[in-house]
Amino acid sequence: MFDPLKLRQDFPMYVNQVKMQGKPLVWLDNGSTTFKPYSVVNAMLRYDTVETANSHRGDYDLCYAVDQEVLATRKAIAKWIHATSENEIVFTSGATDSLNLVAYSYAMSHLKAGDEILIDEEEHASNFLPWLVAARNTGATLKFIPLTKEGRVTAENLEKSMTSKTKIVALAQVTNVLGYRIPVKEFASIIHRYGAIFVVDGAQSVPHIAIDVQDMDCDFLAWSGHKMLGPTGIGVLYGKYSLLEECSPFRTGGGMNNKFNKEGLFTLLPPPARFEAGTMPLAQIYGLHAAVNYLSQLGMDNVQAHETELKHYAVEKLEATDNAILYNADSEAGIVAFNIKGVFAQDAATFLNSRGIACRSGQHCAKALNEFLGTPATVRASFYVYTTKEDIDALADAVLHGKEFLDAYFN
Ligand code: ALA
Repeated sequence: MFDPLKLRQDFPMYVNQVKMQGKPLVWLDNGSTTFKPYSVVNAMLRYDTVETANSHRGDYDLCYAVDQEVLATRKAIAKWIHATSENEIVFTSGATDSLNLVAYSYAMSHLKAGDEILIDEEEHASNFLPWLVAARNTGATLKFIPLTKEGRVTAENLEKSMTSKTKIVALAQVTNVLGYRIPVKEFASIIHRYGAIFVVDGAQSVPHIAIDVQDMDCDFLAWSGHKMLGPTGIGVLYGKYSLLEECSPFRTGGGMNNKFNKEGLFTLLPPPARFEAGTMPLAQIYGLHAAVNYLSQLGMDNVQAHETELKHYAVEKLEATDNAILYNADSEAGIVAFNIKGVFAQDAATFLNSRGIACRSGQHCAKALNEFLGTPATVRASFYVYTTKEDIDALADAVLHGKEFLDAYFN
């Protein structure tokens, strides 16, 4: 196990003692984005300062070095998530881009009028809107798996929602507001029995738990670099190779074609290059590799154990204030969704800000969820490897004094 306080020596945001409102920063918005360790920053700097060249576009040593690093990053990611090959790893700009890629490159060419796409009302915009658009463009129907009263998607409700028309099921492995985790392997076996494919949004899971895509048997898995200590502007789409081969790219340009001419000949490179038109985000790829190495060294089981401990601690501390309404005390992830009694979520977040505490508030991009929760907005505290119990103590103390939020406005 690691010591989160010691880890902070690896993170410039902590080493530089960044403050908010003149107070030491209490960063509890890791579901939104995460801090980058020096190893990630330095890897990006290495590309920009001593190894700058484009990839796959030059017959000289510097270009070769960059090509080698791109390949090494793909291999490291494939190993980390237990993909069968690095060719199943597509670099994208983030989870949103990855999910759009599946919607445009797979769904649009495989769906027809009357087909069904299944999601649930808890999905954030990135795993909701691409399917809404795919349904509109193909005449397919977007259907919603009913949630339990706590907000979970169960195997029973999934099975009840499946029909012979279901072609795609797209679900978050861990949801971004309530933090519920689905049993991907069990769901995959149900979905595959109906001949549908399973798209998993891993934005809130891949950074936090050990992933084995072969065991999970999902068909696609999407996530972002910046939520796993890596840079912004880079993400990954894992896809089973045979399915990637069935996808036609929705972005065209250099690096993805084999041949083209003015007579209209146009042939594609095989995946993953087929989906990576244009110059790749190379500094970000260097940084993502360093982030994978950092998390691998910590051990994903340790990361998960740390967050589970923090989750239990946070629930206990917030309940003890008797001033918080909790929406997800039983969920698996290191995410607490709550409101301070009698205080609107965004006012609460402003009050937390006055104490140097960063939490997300509002609808968290999951705009269909609030109706289900029966509240227009919530505050979300989300934890990561460098989060300490002292951070949670600071949050609980603020919640205890939540009624003072007006002072935060007028002081
Ligand atoms: N989807 C990200 C979040 O939950 C941005 O905050």
